[in-house]
Amino acid sequence: MSIIHTETALEIHPVTPVIGAEVAGIDLGRPLSPDTVAALKAALHKWKVLFFRDQPISDEQQLAFGRAFGPLTPAHPIAEGLARHPEIWERKAAEYKERYRGDLTMPSARPPRDYKGWHIDITFMANPNKYSILRGVEIPAYGGDTLWSNLALAYAGLSPQIRQLIDGLQAVHRIAGYDGTGAKPRLDGRKAGPFVALHPLVRVHPDTGEKVLFVNPGTTSHIVGLKERESQALLELLFDEVSRPEYTVRFRWSPHAIAMWDNQATAHAGPIDYAHFDLPRVVRRITVAGDLAVGPDGFRSQPLEGELFDVIG
Ligand SMILES: [Fe+2]
Repeated sequence: MSIIHTETALEIHPVTPVIGAEVAGIDLGRPLSPDTVAALKAALHKWKVLFFRDQPISDEQQLAFGRAFGPLTPAHPIAEGLARHPEIWERKAAEYKERYRGDLTMPSARPPRDYKGWHIDITFMANPNKYSILRGVEIPAYGGDTLWSNLALAYAGLSPQIRQLIDGLQAVHRIAGYDGTGAKPRLDGRKAGPFVALHPLVRVHPDTGEKVLFVNPGTTSHIVGLKERESQALLELLFDEVSRPEYTVRFRWSPHAIAMWDNQATAHAGPIDYAHFDLPRVVRRITVAGDLAVGPDGFRSQPLEGELFDVIG
């Protein structure tokens, strides 16, 4: 089943029944009409992640596309963006190998980091970004796929008793092992952390009103008010729910493909297989600024350390 918007020529082709749709009938290199932006937003909120193929656009065109959905943030709260476009974060598959490789035979102050896999972008900030837009710049013939999961469905799939329990809870999100010491001063003068945020464990989506399981296997450290073992056990259960195959979609990249996801309603993992290929893979990401998350009980996210994630300007 595909949905055709006659007034905009947009074609929305769902990839699974629950998450992900490919969008055709659009040229992202051209300015978008308000009708097209509204139709894309509606599709994004419904399908959570949109895929666009064969969009050979420039950095500037990617920025213009993103700005149609709201003000952009700097590339990342800690990492630097491109020198000429501080909103753009470039990632190479080789960097993942570098970052997560650990020599297990050498004594070290910290254990080597494992690949964290599933995560929501930058929830160690109290206002993580609303949307992320990732553009394939150099895409290998195979490998480097990305997965997304539908966190509204992950919430809805829990038993009513568990949903009731987590509706009123909050959790701390931080980058394990990072406290900002030794961080290089940023080119834009912003502080590079530390950043720690307190979020509701369940988030009410500001546009759809859906309740979303707001746990981040990458950075949620503990649930407030529970004992350590209770917190660990409950988080382990919820992390498993985030990555259940029936809630996910897997995207096989192609040259000039673009993925845009609602970071308020999804978690993602990728490139999932970087450790097993040496082909070049380069992607560039921009993010649209987001708001404080709000829980079903009205609890609003708070920064525990560091300031809010500002827009660029
Ligand atoms: Fe990410």
